[in-house]
Amino acid sequence: GAPIEVDLAPIAEGQDIKVFWRGKPIYIMNRTKKQVEEARAVPVSSLPDPQTDQARVKEGHDQWLVVIGICTHLGCIPIAHEGAYDGFFCPCHGSVYDTSGRIRQGPAPLNLPIPPYAFVSDTKIKIG
Ligand code: FES
Repeated sequence: GAPIEVDLAPIAEGQDIKVFWRGKPIYIMNRTKKQVEEARAVPVSSLPDPQTDQARVKEGHDQWLVVIGICTHLGCIPIAHEGAYDGFFCPCHGSVYDTSGRIRQGPAPLNLPIPPYAFVSDTKIKIG
């Protein structure tokens, strides 16, 4: 599959969009300051799949979370802005991900994966 470019300008703070890349759903979330702060306040060692929020976003574009929307349990598509951590909730068996897309509760073993992407301008990314 070819890379795709996505214009971020229409995504308001606190909102997200879903696009498809190589047949996979990709969530792009414009996180609020509060959501970023919540993600960064968590002791990383307490996480099932320990990763800092900083490692999951691009430096200087900290409000933007870009994740592959496929639950790492059995592959359902989690719902954005649902669940106890204001991140993602997988309705299939109840996995809960935080505002960094990291697994916090439920049977999924791993964080939502990050696709390969880069910022081509302040308001545009290229995925793939
Ligand atoms: Fe998401 Fe099982 S597939 S919790």
